[in-house]
Amino acid sequence: MRPFAQELKHVQQRINRFLECQFEGIESHRAPLLEAMKYALLLGGKRVRPFLVYATGKMLNANEQSLDYAAAAVEAIHAYSLIHDDLPAMDNDDLRRGHPTCHIAFDEATAILAGDALQSFAFEMLTQPPYISSEQKLALVQILAHASGVQGMCLGQSLDLISEHKQITLQELELIHRNKTGALLTAALKLGFICSPHFSNQSLEQSLTRYADAIGLAFQVQDDILDIEGERAEIGKPVGSDLDLDKSTYPKLLGLEGAKQKAQDLYQTALSELDNIPFDTTALRALAEFIITRKS
Ligand code: IPE
Ligand code: IPE
Ligand code: MG
Ligand code: MG
Ligand code: MG
Repeated sequence: MRPFAQELKHVQQRINRFLECQFEGIESHRAPLLEAMKYALLLGGKRVRPFLVYATGKMLNANEQSLDYAAAAVEAIHAYSLIHDDLPAMDNDDLRRGHPTCHIAFDEATAILAGDALQSFAFEMLTQPPYISSEQKLALVQILAHASGVQGMCLGQSLDLISEHKQITLQELELIHRNKTGALLTAALKLGFICSPHFSNQSLEQSLTRYADAIGLAFQVQDDILDIEGERAEIGKPVGSDLDLDKSTYPKLLGLEGAKQKAQDLYQTALSELDNIPFDTTALRALAEFIITRKS
């Protein structure tokens, strides 16, 4: 297998090409909507969620062409969540992926609609993967819908907003982070799993899910750390945004060193879950390390 950095680059190129193709030939009718969607979806991004889809799926012998649609779907939901997260009514940020946020580059109404349309686009993608059964497609839709809504990302975002300027418990903070960020990362892994011939192996699904839950939480812990320690040019978004909004974060509750220790502990949990998986887990191990050491 390629080293992690090369593998991530390969995923970025593959999913970017695939996403660009999906928008070819769509008529904008002179509305700004299509351009705003492409702006938010195609301009940068690490593509960690697609990486999880491909790494899990390929480990389990899924067809890569089916994985393209699953990866596109979860990345579209992620892009929509970022557009809305940056809006004045939410985090009110002006920089994303090194560019002005969607509502600054366009306008607020267009940004809201671009998020809405990316969400619909995601579910349309999940009706289309080749080489899998209707039962598998339905499972993909169910998993992504569940992870995105009132029992997943949107719930986490709502809890995040009501927890500004508040002292909350560690348990409450974990609930926020597991929902606003962890849920979609775990869903990405599950989409890869569902596209594979092993999709009915429940004990495999449970081990994989425990790994994903650990790296999903670790991902947001590291995001909180980067909001303090990161470089604006490197992370491509404002530094200190959480402090300005008095957000509830891991560094706020545990201190910076405590947050770093938490990320390390979650990394070890993730690795130990992979020990139970009788497949080549090299890519998933490397991803876990990337998540807690990343600088952007
Ligand atoms: C940022 O996600 C928002 C969180 C859920 C923490 P990413 O760090 O994956 O952002 P991109 O896609 O690489 O820009
Ligand atoms: C965002 O968390 C989570 C989602 C977008 C669902 P943050 O608000 O911390 O993400 P950034 O730091 O703006 O990327
Ligand atoms: Mg936010
Ligand atoms: Mg934000
Ligand atoms: Mg953040």
